[in-house]
Amino acid sequence: MIKGLFATHTIEAMPHVDAGEPVEGSSTGEVTLKRVLTARHLVMLGIGAVIGAGIFVLTGTAAAQFAGPALVISFLMAGFACALAGLCYAEFAAMLPVSGSAYSYSYATLGEVVAWFVGWNLVLEYLFAASTVAVGWSGYFNEMLRMLSSLTGMNFTLPAALSSAPFTFNEAGHLVTTGTLINVPAIAIVAAISWLCYRGITQSATVNAIIVAIKVVVILLFLVVMFNYINTDLWHPFVPANEGGSKFGWSGVIRGATLVFFAYIGFDAVSTAAGEAKNPQRDMPIGILGSLFVCTLLYIAMAATLTGVAPFRMLNTPEPVATALNYVLGNVAVGGTASYVLGSLKILVVFAALAGLSSVVLVMLMGQPRIFYAMSRDGLMPQALGRLHPKHRTPYVGTIIVGVIAATLAGLFPVDVLGDLVSMGTLLAFATVCIGVLVLRRTRPELPRAFRVPLPWIICPLGAAACLILFWQAFAVRWPLLISWTAIGFLIYGFYGYQHSKLRQNTP
Ligand code: ALA
Repeated sequence: MIKGLFATHTIEAMPHVDAGEPVEGSSTGEVTLKRVLTARHLVMLGIGAVIGAGIFVLTGTAAAQFAGPALVISFLMAGFACALAGLCYAEFAAMLPVSGSAYSYSYATLGEVVAWFVGWNLVLEYLFAASTVAVGWSGYFNEMLRMLSSLTGMNFTLPAALSSAPFTFNEAGHLVTTGTLINVPAIAIVAAISWLCYRGITQSATVNAIIVAIKVVVILLFLVVMFNYINTDLWHPFVPANEGGSKFGWSGVIRGATLVFFAYIGFDAVSTAAGEAKNPQRDMPIGILGSLFVCTLLYIAMAATLTGVAPFRMLNTPEPVATALNYVLGNVAVGGTASYVLGSLKILVVFAALAGLSSVVLVMLMGQPRIFYAMSRDGLMPQALGRLHPKHRTPYVGTIIVGVIAATLAGLFPVDVLGDLVSMGTLLAFATVCIGVLVLRRTRPELPRAFRVPLPWIICPLGAAACLILFWQAFAVRWPLLISWTAIGFLIYGFYGYQHSKLRQNTP
C-alpha cells in the first residue's frame, strides 16, 4: 500500500514543442488545450498574477506593524526565496510542459500522495487567492465610487449591506456576523473574469496584457513623481528597535517577509499555462523568471518610496499607496500644480489598483481549473473537471465550478482571513518543487532539460529551506487552519482519489 501511495508518474522526454504541435492527448483526436501563448504573453501573465493586493493592500501593514523602512529587506528576503523556487519551476516547466504545475512535478518525482497534498495546497494558492484579491478589489471599487460621487456631486455609492463581507473572525478566532448581507462587487468581478476564462485562453491573455500595461505604467508614474518627495530622514532608523514579539527589529523584518511573500505569489501560475505555450521549452523559463525579475524591481522601488515619503506608522491602512499620496498632499507638497498632479495621480492609483487586482484574479482563476484538469486526467479528481470545451478549448466545467466557489468565498469573507492560508499553501508547493528538482536530477539524470538550475545542490536545498522558514512564521500562528485544510484534503483523497487513481489502476 505504501508503495502505491508513493508511486510516481513515469516521465518521457518531451518532444520539442513549437507553434501548435499538440502535446496533451491529441493522438486520439480528442480536444486539446490550444498552444497559442508566446514568451511575451507568459511574462505578462506572470506580472498580471503577481502585482496586486500585495503591493496595493498589504505593504502598509507590513511596514507599520513589522518592518518599518526595512520593508525593503523583507521584500528582498521574500524575493530571494521566490527566485530560488522560480529557478526550480523554470527547470520543471520547460521539461514537463503540462498544465498541472507543482502538482504534476510532484507526481513525477515524489509520488502520488505527495502530489495530492501539493495539488490540494495549490487550491489554497489559486482559488483562495482569487477570492482574497477579489475582496481587495471590492474595497478599491467602493473607493472609486466614493471618488466619483464627490467629483460629480451625485451618489454612486453602494449600500454598506451590499458592499462588504457578512462574516468575519473576531479576536478570539470565532466566526461572527458583521450585519451586512453580501459583498456584491467581489462576486461580480469573479463572475466577469470566470466568463472570460471560459471564453478562451487568447481572450484571457489579451485582456491580461492590457490590464498589466495599465498597472505597470501607473506604478512607474507613481515612482517618478514621488521620487521628488522622498525624505531620507524617514528611513532612519532603517530597522526600528524591536517593541516586543514581531513588532520591528529583525524578527519583525522576517515576519514582514512572510507577509509580503503574498505579493510575489503568482509567478508560478505561468507554469499552469505550459500546456498552452507555443514553445514551452524556451518560453517557460523566460515567462517565470522574467516576470519575477520585473516584479522584484518594482516592489523594492515601491517599498523604498512608500516608507520614504510618509512615516511608516501612518501606512497601516487598506490602501497604503493612496495614504502615502494623501500624506504628501497634506503635509509636503505646496503649490497648485503639485496638488493637481498628486490629486490626479491618486485617481490613477485607484484605477491601477482595480486593474492590478483584476489581473491577479484572472490568472488565478485561469490556473486553478488547469490544475484540476491535470488531477482529473490522473483520476484523482472527477472526470468532469478534465473536460475541454469543444469550441473554446478551455477546461470549462472546472472554470465554472472554480468560479462559483471563488465567488461564494469572496462574497462572504473578508480579505485578512484567507491571506495567510494562501501563503502557507504556496510556500509548501514551492518547497516541494525545489526538492523535486533534486530528486529528478538523481533518478532521471538523462532527461533532456531545456533549462537547468545552476548549482542545484546549493540552490535547491536553499530554496526549500528559505520557503520552509517563511512557512513556519505563518504556521506557528495559523496551524489549526492549515491542519484542518490538510485533513479535509486527505479525507477526499481516501474516499475518491485513492480509489480512482489511474496510475494505481494501471500498476500491477
Ligand atoms: N501576488 C498577488 C497579489 O499580490 C497574489 O495580489
